[in-house]
Amino acid sequence: MPPSAGHFDQETPNRRGSAPPGPRILVTAGPTHEPIDEVRFIGNRSSGRMGMAIAEAGVQAGCPTTLLLGPVFQPTTGLKHIHRFQTSLDLRRLIKEQWPTHDILIMAAAVSDFMPTNSTRGKGPRRHGPISLDLTPTPDLLQEAVSDSLPTQTLIGFALEEASDLEEKGRRKLENKGVHAIVANPLETMDADIIRGFMMIHDGTIRDPGTHMTKAEFGSWLIEQAVDLHQGK
Ligand code: CTP
Repeated sequence: MPPSAGHFDQETPNRRGSAPPGPRILVTAGPTHEPIDEVRFIGNRSSGRMGMAIAEAGVQAGCPTTLLLGPVFQPTTGLKHIHRFQTSLDLRRLIKEQWPTHDILIMAAAVSDFMPTNSTRGKGPRRHGPISLDLTPTPDLLQEAVSDSLPTQTLIGFALEEASDLEEKGRRKLENKGVHAIVANPLETMDADIIRGFMMIHDGTIRDPGTHMTKAEFGSWLIEQAVDLHQGK
């Protein structure tokens, strides 16, 4: 792998010991807010907690880790490399900037599927009748990252779906997006403290922790799987 761009020098427990640092991990977390005007937006429901837990687990595992974090409350963390975004276009710019100096992308962000075609300045007046919004699809950022990838890089997406068709839709996303793995997450665990996710791998296998976990526990499990997948390629 090419050496890192040098912005991880002060980081990670492993740097201080004798073990070499693990792969460089880029994690995206939280929703995107797509502005209707300067006050209102559309976006997906997401607290960003899962992605933050994954990024913290990355640092704990001795991996230089960068977090791209959306418009959510950011608790104090041990993470040194955090970049904030609001919109899908901000996140697109950050991924283009950061992805070339990382080895693993974990795309936990809940990117809005649509953005208002024209956002207006200031605050539009409240109207009494119905209004309609003209929406444009946002770019698929994960697919773009796949296109911009080297064969040595590893990409992992997320699928949040109803439990009844989680596996089928997860498999479709795995194929359509061309990623190495999809973290499948039942819709029922949204906003919950406990998560019952599993990983679908491009070779058709499934990695399943087999139990409910806290987001911190799931983050550690996922980092272990991601590093193993990356090193086994
Ligand atoms: N994703 C992305 N860019 C988008 C939409 C989604 O990069 N514009 C990423 C998400 O971060 C996630 C994965 O794609 O890792 C799956 O997102 P999801 O919303 O479940 O699927 P979509 O691709 O939006 O498809 P659909 O909404 O039809 O299920």
